[in-house]
Amino acid sequence: MSKVTLNTLNAYKNSGEKFAVLTAYDSTFANVVSSSGVEVILVGDSMGMVLQGNDSTLPVSMQDMLYHTQCVVAGNNSALVMVDLPFMSYATTEQSMINCAALMQRGANMVKMEGGAWLCETVSLLIERGIPVCVHLGLTPQAVNKFGGYKVQGRDQLSGEQLYQDALALEKAGASVLLLECVPSKVAQRITQAVNIPVIGIGAGPDTDAQVLVLQDMLNIPAGKKARFVKNYMADAADIPGAINAYVEEVKNGTFPAVEHCFE
Ligand code: KIV
Repeated sequence: MSKVTLNTLNAYKNSGEKFAVLTAYDSTFANVVSSSGVEVILVGDSMGMVLQGNDSTLPVSMQDMLYHTQCVVAGNNSALVMVDLPFMSYATTEQSMINCAALMQRGANMVKMEGGAWLCETVSLLIERGIPVCVHLGLTPQAVNKFGGYKVQGRDQLSGEQLYQDALALEKAGASVLLLECVPSKVAQRITQAVNIPVIGIGAGPDTDAQVLVLQDMLNIPAGKKARFVKNYMADAADIPGAINAYVEEVKNGTFPAVEHCFE
């Protein structure tokens, strides 16, 4: 398989073929994940929960992200490597430039940050300087204390409209990809249809251009309460590559997510 780039993801968006995203935090799993047909590896700050045993992503540091990016890049075959900016590492545009540069120098192909239209200036500056950016909208786990828990976002007319307007503003600012977490399927469908950039979903229904899951979740290695949007792919698989292959197949043929994994 040839190296997946931003052009590949845009081609998927244009053709309507769905692509699969999974997290990985080390070289062994990066190798298994990328060899099993996953197009994008997310070095997620979910490592705060699944690797470090915390109850949120807030304790994850830039040092953690740099170390795990290096590990993933070493084991990756052909996937695009997207890396999370941890909590408060992009609070100012200057901090964003420095921290994104460090991640790209460790081999990241794209960075991801959580927020709404307030990120437009940062996104434009990064894109101008050659750094592709994915913006994470909806349930943004770094804002768990603001939300008062891990709650579905965009459920009422006003907040659904706000998400839509944020998505349009971020696309205009140059965002390369959007990621929607825990939003009603109808809200995600409206955003996906309105923008020309790829939209990745988690708990965002079947209509986004791609799906993402945390690797440990879909391998049924629980790090906490099982979320509605998680499917256990080990249930019918003989081994880990088999589980990942099944996930990729179900994302591509549209059978994942099913109704029971979505919010209405
Ligand atoms: O950190 C992460 O793994 C994520 C996914 C839940 C999308 O941001």
